[in-house]
Amino acid sequence: MTDRYAVIGNPIGFSKSPLIHAMFAQASGQDMEYTAIEGPPGGFAGAVDVFCAVGGKGLNITAPFKLDAFAYATERSERAQLAGAANAMKFDGERVLAENFDGVGLVRDVTHNLGCQLQGKRVLLLGAGGAARGALLPFLAQAPAELVIANRTVARALELQAMGAARANVRGCGYSDLTGQTFDVVFNATSASLRAELPPVPASVFAPGCLAYELAYGKGLTPFLRLAQNAGTRRLADGVGMLVEQAAEAFAWWRGVRPDTRAAIERITIALV
Ligand code: ATR
Repeated sequence: MTDRYAVIGNPIGFSKSPLIHAMFAQASGQDMEYTAIEGPPGGFAGAVDVFCAVGGKGLNITAPFKLDAFAYATERSERAQLAGAANAMKFDGERVLAENFDGVGLVRDVTHNLGCQLQGKRVLLLGAGGAARGALLPFLAQAPAELVIANRTVARALELQAMGAARANVRGCGYSDLTGQTFDVVFNATSASLRAELPPVPASVFAPGCLAYELAYGKGLTPFLRLAQNAGTRRLADGVGMLVEQAAEAFAWWRGVRPDTRAAIERITIALV
């Protein structure tokens, strides 16, 4: 029987996950279907119950349900616990396993696809919400020289600093504290780009040869990427590769086969103009 998987979110109409997983399944010869479920607001658990009742094996979870998925699970990986959120679930009898592959997908895109190692680098992470929390542990596993987390609400940046402090050189701060500092890699993990807003980051943070990475995808040249470009940064990326790589991690977790990601990345990449 064909195994059933899906992505659940609201809205879900624009999700690229069904296309990505269909490409993975075809390329790796896996007998599976992958659909999109629009979960009703406040009705996440009921929708998942229905999906499980018809034999669903696994779900990807997108906004606004990542916290609901974390709460629904019976077992949570360390990555999911640190992020406080889940973006993938696996159903195994009575067990509901929760994972969070956003951060590892991001690191894989940066190090593998973009060829930018984080080890020994000065890394700046903008934002301290769910997306930034998911990236914290995978970033630290790369042993950067320093990881600075800047956030509008400084207390949230300091919370992340405390979560990572045992592992490496991590510092939380506000945007004004960045004046006079430069970084080799700058990640925008704020949700500002979703509203075409710019976090108040000084244009001087981009070191020569810097990589500026926007976690949002498919938005072209966002205000953050434009700021980096105007500051002379030539290495610009958005989160398309992160999206595909986190999907590949989930696929491997469910199916035991790691798909090649190149074709899917090429298919959904939108030029940064
Ligand atoms: P997500 O799950 O997408 O990370 P979130 O948890 O709501 O969403 O976090 C949003 C992040 O974007 C936060 O770091 C937020 O800053 P605050 O914690 O100070 O609210 C940040 N953010 C959103 N809009 C922003 C803007 N216009 N300028 C700067 N930071 C912004």
